[in-house]
Amino acid sequence: MFYASPLADIAKPARQFSMEINGWDERYRSRARTTEDFSSEPTPLLAETVAALPAGKALDLACGTGRNAIWLASRGWQVTAVEGSSVAIHILQNTAAQRGVTVATCIANLETHEYPIKLSTWDVVAICYYLQRDLFEPAKRGVVPGGLLISIVHITESGEEPTAHRLRPGELAQYFNDWEILRYREGAPRDAAHRRPVAEIVARRPAAGIP
Ligand SMILES: C[S@@+](CC[C@H](N)C(=O)[O-])C[C@H]1O[C@@H](n2cnc3c(N)ncnc32)[C@H](O)[C@@H]1O
Repeated sequence: MFYASPLADIAKPARQFSMEINGWDERYRSRARTTEDFSSEPTPLLAETVAALPAGKALDLACGTGRNAIWLASRGWQVTAVEGSSVAIHILQNTAAQRGVTVATCIANLETHEYPIKLSTWDVVAICYYLQRDLFEPAKRGVVPGGLLISIVHITESGEEPTAHRLRPGELAQYFNDWEILRYREGAPRDAAHRRPVAEIVARRPAAGIP
């Protein structure tokens, strides 16, 4: 049974979205957080998982400045990267051009599902360091049968309540209880830029399709 959080249906007004995205735009424009925002290294979970796969089609949701999307493209993957910050997409495209790779990009508000995720299309969907509870189901439906969804999200620490940006421990796995969970871990992040604990998952869509 899909775990429905009371936070799942909280839709932010458009004004709040644009204020938040303005914040991301400003953060990326200022280049104030070099380590966090301008790493050229993919997140270890994605790199380890994809290393064993033949190149295919990947969708990177909330891609930031594109460390994962560009790494995938450099390994021959056909990548689409979606992000709310136009500044991040501009940086991603500059980096991709410098490295001689192509990434299809889309600037969209994921919270309003402005980017329609095509059904059964992607060999890998990545949602890394971005939490939107009601994005898991459409993202899952976008994965081809037998394909993978890779996600990393922050989780609460002892004594904290879950929020829009942090799941409770165990919660991430519940969104995939109808899929085969290939890897699951909760604990310290393996990305140097992040400090708070995370849940990481690699889950495979059943070959027969989603029930
Ligand atoms: C912590 S960054 C993660 C970047 C990338 N996935 C990574 O692991 O390096 C979160 C990203 O989510 C984007 N974001 C936040 N809210 C969004 C929304 N409603 N729609 C699309 N992107 C959003 C931000 O602009 C930011 O680039």
